[in-house]
Amino acid sequence: MKIFFVLSGEHSTLPKAEVLAALESIGAEFRVLQDFKQVLVLETDKINALHKRVALSHAVCKLFGYCDADVNEIIKLTEESGIKVRGSFAVRVKRIENLSRKISTMELEKNIGKIIKGKAELKAPENLIYGVLTDKFVLGKLLHKIDRSQYEKRKPHQRPYFRPGVMLPRNCRAVVNLTRVKAGQKFLDPFCGTGGFLIEAGLIGAKVYGCDIESEAVEGCEKNLRWCGIKNYKLEVSDARALKHKYKNFFDAIATDPPYGISASTKGLELGELYKSSIASFYEILKPGKCACVISPSKVALDKIAQNAGFEVVEKHLERIHRSLIRKILVIRKV
Ligand SMILES: C[S@@+](CC[C@H](N)C(=O)[O-])C[C@H]1O[C@@H](n2cnc3c(N)ncnc32)[C@H](O)[C@@H]1O
Repeated sequence: MKIFFVLSGEHSTLPKAEVLAALESIGAEFRVLQDFKQVLVLETDKINALHKRVALSHAVCKLFGYCDADVNEIIKLTEESGIKVRGSFAVRVKRIENLSRKISTMELEKNIGKIIKGKAELKAPENLIYGVLTDKFVLGKLLHKIDRSQYEKRKPHQRPYFRPGVMLPRNCRAVVNLTRVKAGQKFLDPFCGTGGFLIEAGLIGAKVYGCDIESEAVEGCEKNLRWCGIKNYKLEVSDARALKHKYKNFFDAIATDPPYGISASTKGLELGELYKSSIASFYEILKPGKCACVISPSKVALDKIAQNAGFEVVEKHLERIHRSLIRKILVIRKV
């Protein structure tokens, strides 16, 4: 089937990477047909419940087609698509950023609506015909809207145990998805803190394991997991680097955000050293072929450290947090 994802614009590379990783994690056979600004067009044999899994997208749509962002071309595409709907419908056209400013989305909605056979219903339509004005115009039918409001409800300060400087749930979910973890698999955050990644991995059905060197963090993390309704978890007070003595080839996925020595302490260790010994330990505890998603300040030579430990670098994303901090998000695979 041909579909498209309407990606959020909150990061330049993560939304697309999250979709592709999530497709991999459900074992889909897929190929990218077009990669427009905030619209990813794909052919795939399945999508399962991917809309419940991805966080950095707005919608998943069935694809009718795409054309130049030109009114005549759009009308032609709509006519040629021969769209028939069962029940009522409405047309919604979304503009990405300021693209194709000369085209009125309202006019376009009206003109596309006139071509479609069916009963127009603006308030509660049974079908939503979805057009996106991006570098091209993409036309389809909404399959699933992504419920992004759920992430707001579990923002760090809403949870029983809070520490400043932790990642937002939407970003945690994307990082978890980058690990390609499947429901039922064993997922670890060895620097779990308040449990941001464990919550998101638990909510997609992974069995979650967490450790932190501080007992207060482990207790707080447990409160947060229970508050989010996660029951399948195991937490321990431990140094992340010591896990290799206990778990060999055990975990299916790791996502972690070790301390940068700014708001979370490295307990006196030099940053590079902490990353080096932790990543060497991750290599021991991950199953072969499985992925870890590790976050660091960009000044840490994470790629090199991971490669020296035997990992292959799968992908890398950079995120500017503030003037003096760029975060690096690295996905590595044990080979
Ligand atoms: C940046 S925070 C993690 C934030 C976490 N992702 C969250 O959602 O709250 C880093 C955590 O690593 C813990 N830590 C520091 N050194 C550690 C070590 N050697 N082993 C395990 N945990 C450690 C700190 O106590 C802190 O809770």
